[in-house]
Amino acid sequence: MRTIDWAGDAVELVDQTLLPDRCVTLRVETVAELVAAIRRLAVRGAPALGVAGALGVVLADGDPAQIAELRAARPTAANLAWGVDRAAAHLREGREAVLRAALRVRDDDIAACRAMGERGADLLEGDRLRIMTVCNSGALAAVERGTALGVVQTLHERGRLTEVLALETRPLLQGARLTTWELARMGAPHRLVADSAGPYLLAKGEVDAVLIGADRIAANGDTANKIGSYALALGAERAGVPFIVVAPESTIDPATPTGDHIVIEDRDPEEILTVRGVRLAPEGTQALNPAFDVTPHDLITAIVTDRRVIRP
Ligand code: MRU
Repeated sequence: MRTIDWAGDAVELVDQTLLPDRCVTLRVETVAELVAAIRRLAVRGAPALGVAGALGVVLADGDPAQIAELRAARPTAANLAWGVDRAAAHLREGREAVLRAALRVRDDDIAACRAMGERGADLLEGDRLRIMTVCNSGALAAVERGTALGVVQTLHERGRLTEVLALETRPLLQGARLTTWELARMGAPHRLVADSAGPYLLAKGEVDAVLIGADRIAANGDTANKIGSYALALGAERAGVPFIVVAPESTIDPATPTGDHIVIEDRDPEEILTVRGVRLAPEGTQALNPAFDVTPHDLITAIVTDRRVIRP
């Protein structure tokens, strides 16, 4: 099953807001629908956003206003604008050329995820590994297999995975809802833990490596990823546990010099104040909802891409 694909004359994507209860494929025929799907995280994760951006340019049929809106639908993941630009570079050659370019983005992502899985598994030392991860960096965040969770899948296929500790990832619970769903489907042993348990479990020696994805990697290696990643990096440094970022080259943004220049998406405070429609805090409580944080490059042991291993 592919998370996102082109089908006839529309984009088809798994609606991730409904998982794990229901696995429903959404057919998206207009840029407005695609932008709405991106904003409500029906499609999410940096590589999948790159493919959505590229396929969305086909839906835009050359309209610059729609292409600009799509490009800016979410600010932090570098891949969205990158995917839009890769397809839009062929606008003058006509729709078929744009579609071919968008399908190349999809196919390149599938190949990149496979390559990252192999490279990441080769890099990690040890026969039996206990991995900690945050958010969802699996097939649902890409087209197939994913980035950090793609490494987990490769480790599992090689018989080298003891267990994954998946952080639940408040407020939208990508870890609890999506990562556990994917790990169960691949038959990989896993347990769900509260986000705040991450650094403690690292300190206790329960983890051999932290593997995370990335939304944007600045030129100096500073890396934006789901909120909570920075706390894990600090905990991993203190515990002497490798902290490894797995992301395609398309997530590296040489135009952004450092993490300070990365735009962090602020999402609706309601996502903090409620869980699936149930209010948690007293009426009138204010909330802050940064969706990502930045891990400085000196806390990162290695960045694994589809082409290389970078050691900041
Ligand atoms: O807000 P989301 O769910 O789009 O955030 C996704 C993440 O933070 C992922 O870890 C990141 O995109 C890398 S996915 C391969």
